[in-house]
Amino acid sequence: MKLLAIVGSPRLKGNTNYLVEQALGEAAKLGAQTEKLVLSQYEVNPCLGHEDCASFDSCLQKDDADWILDRFCEADGVILATPVYWYNVSAQMKAFIDRNYFLYKHDRKYQARAVGIIVVAEMEAIEDTLHTLKQFIGESFDVEEDRIFIATGYASKPGEVKNNLRLGDEARKLGRQMVESLKEGS
Ligand SMILES: Cc1cc2nc3c(=O)[nH]c(=O)nc-3n(C[C@H](O)[C@H](O)[C@H](O)COP(=O)(O)O)c2cc1C
Repeated sequence: MKLLAIVGSPRLKGNTNYLVEQALGEAAKLGAQTEKLVLSQYEVNPCLGHEDCASFDSCLQKDDADWILDRFCEADGVILATPVYWYNVSAQMKAFIDRNYFLYKHDRKYQARAVGIIVVAEMEAIEDTLHTLKQFIGESFDVEEDRIFIATGYASKPGEVKNNLRLGDEARKLGRQMVESLKEGS
């Protein structure tokens, strides 16, 4: 069972990364093969918007989105994790979401049967950010509502989230629930 986390925060020692590690650590304990891809460490450019994806076998942009999207499609479970930036997902996460348009235009199916969402904000707009991510998930994945697991909360300075014990627990629970739900469904 493969679980892939896509992380939209560029802060490697930041709050989102910490929560993702908690979730994946727990999933690994239950036997999942886990992988974390921090988007800022790769080249994932914004969509060019030509709307002609279907005419091409691969995206016209030759960057890391190509193989990241392949892995995203093939994972049994995916986690989308982002800090709130200006009332929504980070630019890295938005570019990644937009690049899924190529798959959408090719009618490519995602294998994931469980999805996790992790969102951290300093003080506001978690709901707006969740809305964006849920819209994307709803359009892209064939996943039942009860197989979408969410952990959200507040923190500001890098690593500050470690003091938010409730949120750490929630992230670990998210990891466990994803694996359990995938085991049930298999
Ligand atoms: C460019 C930028 C925009 C931000 N916009 C918001 C915002 O709209 N609402 C909010 O509550 N926090 C906002 N924040 C604060 C971050 O969400 C917060 O610091 C979060 O803990 C960062 O997560 P990270 O440590 O995983 O990077 C913003 C931070 C940055 C750098």
